[in-house]
Amino acid sequence: MNYLVGIDVGTSATKTVLFDEKGRVIASASREYPLYQPRNGWAEQRPEDWRDAVLETLKKVMDVSGADACDVKSIGLSGQMHGLVMLDENGEVIRPSIIWCDQRTGEEVKDMLAVMPRERWIEITANPPLTGWTAAKILWVRKHEPENYKRCRHILLPKDYIRYVLTGVFAAEVSDASGMQLLDVPGRCWSKEVLKALDIPEAWLGKMHESCQVTGYLLPQVARAVGMTTETAVVGGAGDNAAAAVGTGVVKDKTAFTTIGTSGVVFAHSSQLAIDPKGRVHTCCCAVPGAWHVMGVTQSAGLSLKWMKDNFCQDYVSKAEEEGMDVYDLINQAVEEIPAGSKRLIYLPYLMGERTPHLDSDCRGVFFGLSAMHTKAHLLRAVMEGVAYSLCDCNDILREMGIQADEMMACGGGGKSLAWRQMLSSLYGCRVQTVKQSEGPALGAAILAGVGCKLYESVEKACESLIQPETACCPQEDQAEIYVKYHELYKRLYESLKEDYKLLASLG
Ligand code: XUL
Repeated sequence: MNYLVGIDVGTSATKTVLFDEKGRVIASASREYPLYQPRNGWAEQRPEDWRDAVLETLKKVMDVSGADACDVKSIGLSGQMHGLVMLDENGEVIRPSIIWCDQRTGEEVKDMLAVMPRERWIEITANPPLTGWTAAKILWVRKHEPENYKRCRHILLPKDYIRYVLTGVFAAEVSDASGMQLLDVPGRCWSKEVLKALDIPEAWLGKMHESCQVTGYLLPQVARAVGMTTETAVVGGAGDNAAAAVGTGVVKDKTAFTTIGTSGVVFAHSSQLAIDPKGRVHTCCCAVPGAWHVMGVTQSAGLSLKWMKDNFCQDYVSKAEEEGMDVYDLINQAVEEIPAGSKRLIYLPYLMGERTPHLDSDCRGVFFGLSAMHTKAHLLRAVMEGVAYSLCDCNDILREMGIQADEMMACGGGGKSLAWRQMLSSLYGCRVQTVKQSEGPALGAAILAGVGCKLYESVEKACESLIQPETACCPQEDQAEIYVKYHELYKRLYESLKEDYKLLASLG
C-alpha cells in the first residue's frame, strides 16, 4: 500500500495525517502552540514552534502507523496564509512571524497605494492592498525594524518555511503566494512590476510552483529524525483554504465551501479569473492548475468562540474534563437550547478587525442588546450567530459576482457543529453539506502530494474517487425568517459604529 502525508500548519495547532492511497486516515497527530498578541490588533507566532510541531507530529504518525517508510511516497503542506517569515543568510529565523490576522499595517497599505494606484494593484495581484497580507508586513519591518530588515535574505510563508526545514529548498506555490500581494495572479508568477515598486529583491522569494508539483525531497537528517526516507517527495501544497477546497472536493465551477477555523472563509472555485472591483473578497490562484478561487474572510470566526471559551467558560471546560467530553460539544448542547436570535442579542465578530465586507482594521467586537435576562448560553449562541451573519455577508458578495454554488460544503472545527451549519443553511438559503472525510486541509494537501507523485491522474479525478458527501442541513423557514431581520440589523450596527471605531483606535 502507498501512503501520503498531509501537514496543516494552522493557527491553533499543526495537524499531521498519514493517509493510505484510498484517502483513509491511518494515523493522525496534532500539537498546539501559542499566539502572541503584544498589542491590540497585533498577532505573532514563532516559526520555531511550527517547526517543532511538524517534526514531532511527523515522527508520531510514523511511529503509531507502523507504515514502512519506503511506502510513504509524498508529503503535501498546507498552512495559514499571509504570515511573514524572514530568514537570514544562514536560514535562521530573524523575528517572530507576523501572521494573517495582524492588523498593524494601516500606514504601510497607504504607502503601497502611494507607489501604485489601487486599480493597478487589483489588475496585477487581483486584490487591493490589504493590512493582513504579506507585502505590507515586509514594509512594516523595513520601516520599524531596519536592523532586522538588513539581515533578511529570504521571505517565506509559514508552510514554505516548513518546506525549507524539511527539504532545505526555498520554494513557493501559487495558491498561498497569491496572498502575499507580490504575485501576478492572472500570470501565476512573481510580479516584477510590484517587486520593483516596493523595492523587494526577487532573490529573497522562493521558486514558484503549481500546488501539485514536486519541490524537493526530505533532507537526510530530517528523514532520520522522523523515521522516513530521503525518497519522500514534498509537493508545493497550498494555502489552508485552497487545500481545504481539495479536501472537500471543491475543485469545479459551481462548487463552494464554508470553513470555520480560527478564521471563517466562504470559498468558491472559478475556472475563469473573477475579481470583485470593490476588493471586498479575495481572488487567488487555486490548487487546481490553471484555475482560481474567490473567497470572503471573517477574521475571527472560531477565534470568537475560542475567546469566549478561554475567558468565560471555565465551568464548561471543567465539566468537559470530568465527563471526558469535547468542551465544544457541551457548548453546542447549551446553544441548542437558546432560540434563533438569542433573545435579541447580536454579536459583531470583529475581535481582530474585519475583512469581508468592510476591510477595516480598526473595528472591534461588540455585544449589542445585552439584558439582565441573558445567560452565558445566550452569549455563546449570539457569538455563533454573529459569525454566521458575517459569513453570510461573504456569501452574498459571491452571489453578486455570479459565482455562487447551489449547495455549500462545510468544514473546519466549527463546521462540525450541527447548530452552526443549521444557522448557515438558513441564512444562505441552501443545503449545507459535510463530507465523510473530515480532515479538510490535511487531506487536500495529501491529495496534492498524491498527484505530485503520480498516484492520481489529476486533482479533480482524485477528488471524484476519494471524497464522499455526508449529512446535509436544509434551510429552516422559521429560522430563516428571524435571521433575515437580525442580519439586517447586524449590518446597520457596523454602519452606525464605523466612525466611532476610528475614534476608539486613536485612543491610547
Ligand atoms: C485567508 C486567511 C485565513 C488564514 C488562516 O485569507 O487569512 O483563512 O489562512 O487560516
